[in-house]
Amino acid sequence: MLRTHTCGELRLEDAGKEVILTGWVQRVRDKGGVIWIDLRDRYGITQLIFKEGETAQELIDQATSTGREFVVKAQGKVIERYSKNPKMATGDIEIEVTQLTVLNTSKVPPFTIEDDTDGGEDLRMKYRYLDLRRTVVRQKLQLRHRMMQETRKYLDGQQFIEVETPVLIKSTPEGARDFVVPSRMQPGEFYALPQSPQTFKQLLMVSGFDRYFQIVKCFRDEDLRADRQPEFTQIDCEMSFVTQDDILSMFEGLTQYLFKTVKNLELADFPRMNYAEAMQRYGNDKPDTRFEMKFTELNDIAKGKGFNVFDQAELVVGICAKSCAEYTRKQLDALTEFVKRPQIGAKGLVYVKYNTDGTFKSSVDRFYSEDDLKAWTQKMDATPGDLLLVLSGDAHRTRKALSELRLHMGSELGLRDKNVFKPLWVVDFPLLEWDDATQRYYAMHHPFTSPKPEDIEKLDTDPGSVRANAYDLVINGVEIGGGSIRIHNRELQNRMFKELGFTEKEAQKQFGFLLEAFEYGAPPHGGIAFGFDRMCALFDGADSIRDYIAFPKNNAGRDVMIDTPSTISQEQLNELSIQVKK
Ligand code: AMO
Repeated sequence: MLRTHTCGELRLEDAGKEVILTGWVQRVRDKGGVIWIDLRDRYGITQLIFKEGETAQELIDQATSTGREFVVKAQGKVIERYSKNPKMATGDIEIEVTQLTVLNTSKVPPFTIEDDTDGGEDLRMKYRYLDLRRTVVRQKLQLRHRMMQETRKYLDGQQFIEVETPVLIKSTPEGARDFVVPSRMQPGEFYALPQSPQTFKQLLMVSGFDRYFQIVKCFRDEDLRADRQPEFTQIDCEMSFVTQDDILSMFEGLTQYLFKTVKNLELADFPRMNYAEAMQRYGNDKPDTRFEMKFTELNDIAKGKGFNVFDQAELVVGICAKSCAEYTRKQLDALTEFVKRPQIGAKGLVYVKYNTDGTFKSSVDRFYSEDDLKAWTQKMDATPGDLLLVLSGDAHRTRKALSELRLHMGSELGLRDKNVFKPLWVVDFPLLEWDDATQRYYAMHHPFTSPKPEDIEKLDTDPGSVRANAYDLVINGVEIGGGSIRIHNRELQNRMFKELGFTEKEAQKQFGFLLEAFEYGAPPHGGIAFGFDRMCALFDGADSIRDYIAFPKNNAGRDVMIDTPSTISQEQLNELSIQVKK
């Protein structure tokens, strides 16, 4: 190595040693008489010192002319610092330099490469390789690395075999939109990039692999958000001869192991909640259970009192915000504005203040007596000083809107502490989901998920009420993973495709390989996939997964650094038999 030590390793006990360090110049400080250089590498920062009168003038001139982000090699002696910096691991020492070599120069970087940078998101992404020099960003990728190693360790220890599945596969009409790749050798035909290795991992079970995993890139052409990237990584797993309980306990084990080894946190057994309860009590299939504020339905006591809005609503439902009765007019108006935003779509917000003196003040005083409001507070377990917030309308939309309000209040009241982790298994999802626009059912998870055996008979009579052997792992309101026990017999799989509106021919064309495999001794099997990027962000208390991906795409799906998607040459287009509409 060109160096004897890294920039993060020297301590007071090293004083007197002759060392060579290499790294990037973070800062040059010329205090007249003394010059300091902060030298940075992946491991930390070490201060170099040059003193007028003691250091050779030539070396001092060299130090002052060194620019930010120059790559240098510095040789010298470790000395104890006069004024120590307890915030730095190397803060007790500095290097009295005797030789400085510039290994490479640097243009002035477009933003400061320090923890607090002046670079905006776009600039940082364009020069992502510089952004990654920043300790705070690099640490996120180091966390990712640790999580990946520990995941492999745990799964290997549980006899899982890591198998790579292909990236050029077949487009399927279910799920999100595919990214497709044109075939040169078969003009007019396309591969698709996998949205997940779902069918392959099931085939591996037919092959007898018994326990499979893969840390794998998946591709989905969907609208992007803070927790969604077009290419993202899953910890994808599948097991044979298991029940739902076996899968939940195995992957609860993985999650607990990761929290313990990466964050030194012990998580107790994960509670379970069925989908119906999650929707009714939180209006959400991924409830944030760091705080209570559960929904209470008020239909029986709020209707029939002459308040037209409630009388006409399918559902009247509210939450109780503890100790918020003192909210001002302005604060209540802001909450009303919040729920009326188009993304949330409520028409208005009814509030009841349960004052500390036991009186009530509500936005619907005209329609409800003190006794009426008292009944509301009793039903909602409110105590004096609390504020009730009530929405009404069609059941599905009202629950969704109240869920947003609940999360908003949770944030406003500081109940969503990023250092607290509340995992939850949501189980018993519906098998199918009706879509009004296309007038058909879609698989809520995917078409390979099995219905609960006791619900199979309802497939013909009431498909919407059939529950699936499907589960999600939710932590702090984030869907971290999801999976199911699969169908492993051809007849039932055919029936499922029929339910989803596939003709037999279409099912055969799309999934014939899987249907056929089921006829060669497919074992009962099931699995799960974790969103690995989401898991990393969650562990670190971040909302966006972007910083946990080395080279992410922006919100428009662009990589602004390499500038793609981009056009290709006419020659390439011809070769691929593609005509581009201008
Ligand atoms: P699912 O579609 O639920 O299941 O995906 C599993 C997990 O992947 C994460 N995830 C994403 N993360 C970042 N960006 C995205 N665009 C994105 N989309 C999904 C989520 C999600 O919980 N094959 C099934 C799994 C199975 O049944 O075993 C599947 O892919 O955290």
